[in-house]
Amino acid sequence: MYLGLDLGTSGLRALLVDGTGAPLGSAEAHYDVSHPHPGWSEQDPKDWVSACETAISQLKSQHGAAFAQLSGIGISGHMHGAVLLGEADEILRPCILWNDTRCADEAAILDATPGVRELSGNIVFPGFTAPKLLWVEAHEPDIFQQVKKVLLPKDYLRLWLTGAHVGDMSDMAGSSWLDVGARDWSETLLEHGHMRRDQMADLVEGSESSGILRGALQEAWGVGEVVIAGGGGDNAVAACGVGCFKEGQGFVSLGTSGVLLAAKDSFAPDPATAVHTFCHAVPGRWYQMGVILAATDALNWLSKRLKASPAELSALVTAVDGPGQALFLPYLSGERTPHNDSEMRGAFVGLDVGGGDAALVQAVMEGVCFALRDCLEALRATGTELEQVLAIGGGTKSRVWVEMLATVLGLPLALPKDGEFGAALGAARLAMVATGAEIEAVMTQPEIGEVVAPKAELREAYEAAYQRYRRLYPAIKGALA
Ligand code: XUL
Repeated sequence: MYLGLDLGTSGLRALLVDGTGAPLGSAEAHYDVSHPHPGWSEQDPKDWVSACETAISQLKSQHGAAFAQLSGIGISGHMHGAVLLGEADEILRPCILWNDTRCADEAAILDATPGVRELSGNIVFPGFTAPKLLWVEAHEPDIFQQVKKVLLPKDYLRLWLTGAHVGDMSDMAGSSWLDVGARDWSETLLEHGHMRRDQMADLVEGSESSGILRGALQEAWGVGEVVIAGGGGDNAVAACGVGCFKEGQGFVSLGTSGVLLAAKDSFAPDPATAVHTFCHAVPGRWYQMGVILAATDALNWLSKRLKASPAELSALVTAVDGPGQALFLPYLSGERTPHNDSEMRGAFVGLDVGGGDAALVQAVMEGVCFALRDCLEALRATGTELEQVLAIGGGTKSRVWVEMLATVLGLPLALPKDGEFGAALGAARLAMVATGAEIEAVMTQPEIGEVVAPKAELREAYEAAYQRYRRLYPAIKGALA
């Protein structure tokens, strides 16, 4: 039996699978994000441990006999967060999360430092880890002085599971301290970030063992020796969950944030495009992705304003018969790809006095599709070509949204049949590989329910609307300056 733990931004999901990787049961526990100041986003790492304890005890009570046979655990986690630990592994301050933008100035300085983009393979985005530590150095020097180790969120969970400070390449690739091509810490990047190698975790590949469940937990959980796999950052591990690890394979995710991910056989960075290039969670592979900060989050925002659930709002747009008149820029929290702009904010443009709620919903859905098309163009600019991608995430429950997206991207979108294929499954699969299974045998693609083709008759109209959308960012940015 294997366990996949997915440490998400709003909660932890634990999935128990059998020796063939088939799901047996799952449990979830939630925690909060605090926003003590505008642009800040923090969590208490202790809440992750409590959530893990809750989820494990639920799983044990429902699947006791199977749980007792546990032989491996894999962990996935939200990336880029900084857990600062002191001399005795005590938590020095709340974890600063991936969607926290307080360190935009430090990120810009680091990003402009010669050699940083080349070694890290990426723009230093304000969400990444290294600029967070520079911010702590400048604003909380007493805490900075006490930092003995910096761990990423899921690696704090591992510390609790194993007692060891270990991280994996895929998650650390988003730190701006890792030489992403060489898959090792870069002395140069650490120096630019005012950090030392001894403050970093030991590195393993996501599919390697990172240690053994500590004795006290073995006893408390009633299990034997359990291997903890390296695991990885949430998108790399989700890619393992949908069997996306070879060149040409990719997925688009309509989740809280939106992602267009393409697996790569080699390290092929192109930071200038604002595409992320990270190590995959399996050895010798990388991936590229464009990230938009608000996908379903944009619809959630509108749902709060209009006081109707996202499902009720989606139902207002009944068919895809061409782009609406209104346009929406989904930059509610700034944007990563392609603009790397933490200050830009969203906009509705072209509203008509006759337009109702449906026009707003359509504009939001289309705006998210256009933002993901920007990601596709950014990937294309690096030479990456995709012929068909999987479509995953909560937003794919809306048929209309998927049809729009296929048409705007000009790509057929394969929808998996209902079932398990997220990061928790990917994490369990990494645990299987860490205990001896073959990557190719385990990381299979999900069964496809349907392939949604672009609507040929609407391609031209959507192409024209996309070009209008592209002109808005510089125009509105200029107007607000
Ligand atoms: C990736 C990223 C998000 C977070 C949270 O760069 O910031 O995917 O990992 O999901």
